[in-house]
Amino acid sequence: MRVQFTETVLRDANQSLMATRLPYADFEPVLSTMDKAGYYSVECWGGATFDSCLRYLGEDPWERLRNIRKNMPNTKLQMLLRGQNLLGYKHYHDDVVEKFVELSIKNGIDILRIFDALNDFRNIKTALEATKKYGTANTIASGCISYTQSPVHTVSKYVEMCKELQAMGFDTICLKDMAGTMSPYEAEHLIKGIKDAVGDMPLILHTHCTTGMAYQTLTKAIDSGIDVIDTATSCFSNGTSQPATETMYYALSQYGIETGLNEKVINEVNDFFKPIKQKYVDDGTLNPKSMATDAQALVYKVPGGMLSNMIANLKDMDAMDKFDAALAEIPAVRADMGYPPLVTPLSQMVGSQAVTNVLMGERYKVISKDVQNYFKGEYGIAPAPVDAALEKRILDDAGMAAPVDCRIEDSKRTGEDFEAAKAALGELAKTEEDVMSYICFPKQAEDYLKARKEKEERTCKYTMEAID
Ligand code: CO
Repeated sequence: MRVQFTETVLRDANQSLMATRLPYADFEPVLSTMDKAGYYSVECWGGATFDSCLRYLGEDPWERLRNIRKNMPNTKLQMLLRGQNLLGYKHYHDDVVEKFVELSIKNGIDILRIFDALNDFRNIKTALEATKKYGTANTIASGCISYTQSPVHTVSKYVEMCKELQAMGFDTICLKDMAGTMSPYEAEHLIKGIKDAVGDMPLILHTHCTTGMAYQTLTKAIDSGIDVIDTATSCFSNGTSQPATETMYYALSQYGIETGLNEKVINEVNDFFKPIKQKYVDDGTLNPKSMATDAQALVYKVPGGMLSNMIANLKDMDAMDKFDAALAEIPAVRADMGYPPLVTPLSQMVGSQAVTNVLMGERYKVISKDVQNYFKGEYGIAPAPVDAALEKRILDDAGMAAPVDCRIEDSKRTGEDFEAAKAALGELAKTEEDVMSYICFPKQAEDYLKARKEKEERTCKYTMEAID
């Protein structure tokens, strides 16, 4: 029996524990060691890393990827892509999505894990097709399902989703339990059901330790036939991050389960990261709260991040007496919206609408712009029918007869986005990658590119003085 590992320290562990603030320079020295560990893949790019590089770290995300590639020539490099949203929060046109995928592969990505917040797979089709078009024999398109619990999210619904991903042409399937609420029982039934339906197509489980169940869930998942698990080197594991790589390695070795991992190397990787972690604990970047177990999500059926956010908001507004009402309102709003998975950006939308409903003393007296756009169809199709009266009210107010089909707008291939971004940047843009950064995060990319130019000019001036 064989179970392989995806190491997440560079992306999800970094994102979950320390808001993606790990600079490239910190981990460069360990990359050649990680290259010898025998991981299935290293998740190192996508998610919030792109935004964080430009916004906080003064780094070019593309350059980071090329450097990782150079230092890890033998390991599959993996990214997380939000389908039609790429690494941002809105839908981009198909030609932009295609170009982004082309550049990601060109700069070093081997595995694209692609998901849509609503599991509306029309929103991941363009990214899949681009992966097939620009990928090599080594490239893997992984279709990813946002896992959530609701009356409509049954095992048979997930099995149908997996069959659909397989039919679309994905190479592997990943179950993404972003809130860490998948129980061992659910993992067992889900994975057995999926394995029966999709045959030997590789199945991956991505979960978080947030609620404390992840190790039991992984154990059941392995018993049930999972092929790949996501883990983080132990000093960057647990809490809101993934289960620990070495711990799972030792547990599996005793059962004779082959992992392909080199014990000595995975321990070296952890030894390297220990002082780095300590540095960020000491300076407050790594909040001890994110390292703890919080089982409240299991009690309230609301992801941990949403709950702490709601409490902070209610406290801010001096309205903690409304806590119980707001807590009950979240599942009610989610039901009205057709049970969307509570992942970005929907977790924020549902949470703030629920708090608004309670604070206003009347449900939907005020409806946020994002929730209106959701009912107008701009995000895609909801998992279950939305509340008909609410939908009618929002559409009537907007003078619309029916929700829009988001794909009609997405599929426009005008090339205009790229040309406009190129023109806006002028001489700041040196490559297609620069232009793509600007399309995704205009302000952050422009600030970064301006700073880069100033730095180059300073260097240039110094050189000329030296010649004199
Ligand atoms: Co995650």
